[in-house]
Formats: sequence, C-alpha cells, structure tokens
Amino acid sequence: MDSPEITPEIRAAAEAIGSCKHAVALVGAGLSAESGIPTYRGAGGIWTKFGEPTIDGWDLFRRDPEQWWRDVLDRKSRRSEFSTAIESAAPHAGHLALAELERMGRLKHIITQNIDNLHQRAGSLAVTEIHGNRTKGRCLSCGLRVPLEEISLDRLPPLCGKCGGIMKNDTVMFGEPIPFDALRHCHAEAEVADVFLVIGTSAVVYPAADFPVIAARRGATLIEINPERTPLTGMANIVIRGPAGESLQCIVDLLSG
Ligand code: OAD
Ligand code: ZN
Repeated sequence: MDSPEITPEIRAAAEAIGSCKHAVALVGAGLSAESGIPTYRGAGGIWTKFGEPTIDGWDLFRRDPEQWWRDVLDRKSRRSEFSTAIESAAPHAGHLALAELERMGRLKHIITQNIDNLHQRAGSLAVTEIHGNRTKGRCLSCGLRVPLEEISLDRLPPLCGKCGGIMKNDTVMFGEPIPFDALRHCHAEAEVADVFLVIGTSAVVYPAADFPVIAARRGATLIEINPERTPLTGMANIVIRGPAGESLQCIVDLLSG
C-alpha cells in the first residue's frame, strides 16, 4: 500500500498540535465510520437512508420507564443492522492515533459524541462521552454509571444500587438533557484548549457543536478533519479534507518522527 500523502494541512496540524499547551478533540460518527459503523448523516448515513428517528424518546421514557425497558429488550432481540455493526466494530488507526497522541502528552482530552466505546478500547483515558456509552447504564438521580451487564433486569425499570433512583441506558436520547457531569467537563476543556480538533462530525448537534466555537472565540486554533464541509469549516484555521484514520496517523508519524 502507498503511504498516505502528507499534505501542507496535515503538516500544519502536526505543528500546531506539537507546539500547543492543551489540545482537545471533538469527535463524531465519521471517526467510527472507518470501523464499519454507519454515520447518521451524510453519504451512507443511517438517517440519510431510513429517515430520522422519532424525537420523543425522552418523553416516552419519563412516561413509562418500565415499557421503555421492555421495548429496548425487545428491539435488542431483533438486532438492527446498526447494532450488529457496532457490536462487531474494533478501533482503527484513527482511534489508536488519538490514544497515542494522549500518551505523547499532545492531546489532553477527547469529547466524543460516539457511544461505541471504541476510544476506551483503543487506550484513550481522558474521554468525555457527551452522548453516553452504549455499554453502560446511568442512574437518573445520582448519575452513577455501571456496565449494563451488572444491572439486574429482574425488575423493570432497574433501580440504582447506590441511591435507589431509576436507571436508564447511558446513551442520551433525543430531548434528554446532557448529563451535568459531562457538560461541565466539556465546558472546562473548551475554556482551556489552545488547539481544538473537530474530527468526523457534521457539527449540527448542540451543545456538542458549541465547544469548538467557544474555544475558537478565545483564540484556539481550530483544525477540522472531515472529507466534507461542515458549518464549522469557515471558522477553521486548518482544514484537512480526508478520512480521519489516515490523517491522524500521519499527524502522529510527523510528531514521532
Ligand atoms: P453525523 O452522522 O451527523 O456526521 C458524520 C460526519 O462524519 C459527516 O460530516 C461526514 O462527512 C463525516 N465523515 C464521514 N466519513 C468520515 C471519515 N472517514 N473521516 C472523517 N469524517 C468522516 O455524526 P455526528 O456529527 O457524530 O447523537 O452526529 C452527532 C450526533 O447526532 C450523534 O452523536 C447522535 C446524533 O443525534 C445522539 O444519538 C444523541
Ligand atoms: Zn443513583
């Protein structure tokens, strides 16, 4: 295989990441696309193909958490194309490159919109999952997160072992408030970042798409990695129009070389 091309934009990104104090990345579904998980929007996105899901998930949960859990367990037994893709996915070069940048001390934090757990499997430690993690459950009262397999489903809805509150899956639903602890971490990172990478996200979902803007307004260098234009492109200082895996791998190679 030919080695990927090192463009002036990739070189500029590596220089910015190599000389900054606090680089933060906002990541979206485009990163995991190369692990075989379809994106939501854009070419090949599941919502582009099948339309957006109903936006009343949070209302349904609040009205009847027991029925909601029954529906989840029922859907699970039917297995969608999307969940099969997530279950068989493994981290790729892009996830590994982000974990390597953290080990090198070059990347301080990842804010991911992805729920697929692939950052952790790649070895990243400083990760805030703003839309939750599909392998976990979360208590709606105290915020405790536990692996789903540790939650007893003998009684629905399941209750928190710590405070007795109602558990739901950690994945944030349409209309559901972003968990407060995640939001606080994201704001804190946006307030200190001097380089902000925006990787594989259409940047149309809020509040996630706000964090790069907050950082850029404070003077952070904005680096976008995406094969397509997004609403943040005009604000970006460096735009890498290519797939995340290859681009991030090149950046790591330049910084280690
Ligand atoms: P989207 O599906 O909206 O956008 C995916 C982006 O990835 C697009 O801009 C693509 O151009 C880009 N892309 C595709 N392949 C890529 C590649 N190989 N490398 C880099 N970029 C690539 O996904 P998100 O922006 O993550 O929330 O969507 C945000 C949120 O919308 C999701 O977290 C989800 C949904 O509502 C919840 O489920 C709560
Ligand atoms: Zn609790």
